[in-house]
Amino acid sequence: MSAVVVIPAAGEGLRLGFSMPKAFVPLAGSPLLVHVIRLFERIKHIQGIVIVSPPGYEDFCRNEIAEKNGFSKIVDIVPGGNKRSESVNNGLNVVSDKTDLVLIHDAARPFVTVTLIEKLMSSAVKWGAAIPAVPVIPTIKSENNRGFVIETVDRRNLREIQTPQVFKTELIKKAYAAGDIESEAGTDDAYFLEKAGIPVRIVEGERENFKITTKIDLRIAEMMIRKKKQS
Ligand code: C5P
Repeated sequence: MSAVVVIPAAGEGLRLGFSMPKAFVPLAGSPLLVHVIRLFERIKHIQGIVIVSPPGYEDFCRNEIAEKNGFSKIVDIVPGGNKRSESVNNGLNVVSDKTDLVLIHDAARPFVTVTLIEKLMSSAVKWGAAIPAVPVIPTIKSENNRGFVIETVDRRNLREIQTPQVFKTELIKKAYAAGDIESEAGTDDAYFLEKAGIPVRIVEGERENFKITTKIDLRIAEMMIRKKKQS
């Protein structure tokens, strides 16, 4: 089986309080993106890694990320777009149709495990599309534009969606080609399959696989790494 991972890494770091792109923000001394690539380099069934770089940082990715760390699976570095979906689309464009599976993983999720990735790949082979999810824990309400509650949402069927999202190549390419990649609603990749009427299988995700978005997330991530080193 052949598999390629596309890593959208073109987002900004503003919510983290950094002026540099989020994927280059240091975590325990290495850019977030390096943590993520290191993991996929270790997975036997993944032959290629496509980095979607912040526009203008392609050489930085080549020299400071790929070469400096001796990564051997990076097959392409392409510039991203204004939205995550545009970035992913640029990455998908360089994936060969002959590849069996495409994994799409946020550069901002450094704690995904090999076990979860392999579970998702097996599920995608069986079902065509597989995404990780965890139950929503907090109470969720909708708010009107005057600052009052509209209603409480029944959370029993709600799921918080993670990455990597794994797809048969023909399905994800077909879904992106048919979709409106500038849509505000397209915040993950499975969205485009849903719009195209293609079933998406949910696999139980991992709480540790959270997305680093805010300063507190980064502090928690630093603590998690320190703890892992101690144990
Ligand atoms: O913005 P958000 O937190 O949803 O970003 C998730 C992932 O998508 C991050 O890895 C980020 O670098 C990437 N992204 C991108 N291009 C954008 C926006 C986000 O590659 N225009």
